[in-house]
Amino acid sequence: MSFLRTKAGFRLLGQGWQHIKPKPVICHSFGARPIVDMSYSHHFVDFHGSSIPSSMKKLVVTELSPNFKKAVTLIPDAPVPVPGDGDLLIRNRFVGVNASDINFSSGRYDISTKPPFDAGFEGIGEVVALGLSASKTYAIGQPVAYLANGSFAEYTVVPAKVAIPVPFVKPEILTLLVSGTTAYISLKEMGQLSEGKKVLVTAAAGGTGQFAVQIAKQAKCYVIGTCSSDEKAGFLKSLNCDLPINYKTENVGLVIKKRFPEGVDVVYESIGGEMFDMSVNCLAIKGRLIIIGFISGYQSSKGILPVKTSSLPAVLLRKSASIQGFLLFHYLSEYREAMTSLLKQYQTGELVCEVDNGDQAPEGRFVGLESVFRAVDYMYMGKNIGKIVVELPHPVNSKL
Ligand SMILES: NC(=O)c1ccc[n+]([C@@H]2O[C@H](COP(=O)([O-])OP(=O)(O)OC[C@H]3O[C@@H](n4cnc5c(N)ncnc54)[C@H](OP(=O)(O)O)[C@@H]3O)[C@@H](O)[C@H]2O)c1
Repeated sequence: MSFLRTKAGFRLLGQGWQHIKPKPVICHSFGARPIVDMSYSHHFVDFHGSSIPSSMKKLVVTELSPNFKKAVTLIPDAPVPVPGDGDLLIRNRFVGVNASDINFSSGRYDISTKPPFDAGFEGIGEVVALGLSASKTYAIGQPVAYLANGSFAEYTVVPAKVAIPVPFVKPEILTLLVSGTTAYISLKEMGQLSEGKKVLVTAAAGGTGQFAVQIAKQAKCYVIGTCSSDEKAGFLKSLNCDLPINYKTENVGLVIKKRFPEGVDVVYESIGGEMFDMSVNCLAIKGRLIIIGFISGYQSSKGILPVKTSSLPAVLLRKSASIQGFLLFHYLSEYREAMTSLLKQYQTGELVCEVDNGDQAPEGRFVGLESVFRAVDYMYMGKNIGKIVVELPHPVNSKL
């Protein structure tokens, strides 16, 4: 029998966590109201017959490499983490795969971080245990989503202050956490979108691109979207993208030059390399290019493919054009507002949140942490339509 005592008086017995219910502390002081401290009764709770195992599966970066399979190890029996006072223990039901999972596994985000460290950026699931302070705002069984490291695990501890209460656990909501907010905040901050502006979105049928297309359409812009297949182009049409271009069969630069000799006003650019160079050349007078990413280089050792920089000052000056980078983590002050707005739009049916759960992948749907490796490969083969989501099924005995 395993036994674990936390600061809060919470223990793990056998396969189930149980609540130690201390007596209320009653303090009398002369002339004052008695203070009844019931806080411990709200502290860690059991969860109605459901059980939290003592160990779980998780993905850990054990070696720095942009090759996800080489960098990441599936740990089959990691201890389930214990939430601290302000924390939630979340049982992950769906986790999101991001292009930057391989930037993270190669240590590009923080060169001081040394392996081992946990992988995965975002998840959605239910609260299954929580600390005293966290219990002021959250309850057992509550659906929550989060943007925090370590989501490629069956359970993740997340500070309550960064968790996002959501109405239900659905993969569509997960698409908003990184992808939706990236498109929303970057275009709001830097896009200066208005009716009639021409907006070019690269990787338009992917996780974040799908939202950039829809947000630009909401602003009544003319939207051009690049993608790699006719099926993706069909998906973009369904989002009312005005001009989907399959870059495998058409020359994007030539198509744009022919249709819009004066150029495009805004580029939402995620690919880098030749696509970046082409996008710069397509900019209109006072055009704006937002660098969202440069996925074409992420698998290389440098993480980026070369672009034509020597002519850049002259090209930008001649057009009074500008280029600006965007990284979601620098805009967290706007994150809650973005999530609230996007969630509302999804619930009212104004926003499509396309999920790719791997149904069309060679080995089928992405289920279980083992399939994160396949899901990353699938993205880097350029196959996904919408956001790649991996489902983590519940144990059969769960009542939550
Ligand atoms: N700045 C930020 O804060 C932030 C946040 C989230 C994501 N991002 C960036 O947004 C971009 C998209 O990320 P995501 O996670 O949403 O991925 P995604 O768009 O769902 O999937 C990646 C897509 O990129 C396209 N692609 C083009 N060339 C590629 C290549 N050489 N290798 C692989 N894919 C290629 C593929 O679609 P097609 O070939 O059909 O176009 C592929 O489906 C990435 O650059 C990522 O770094 C940035």
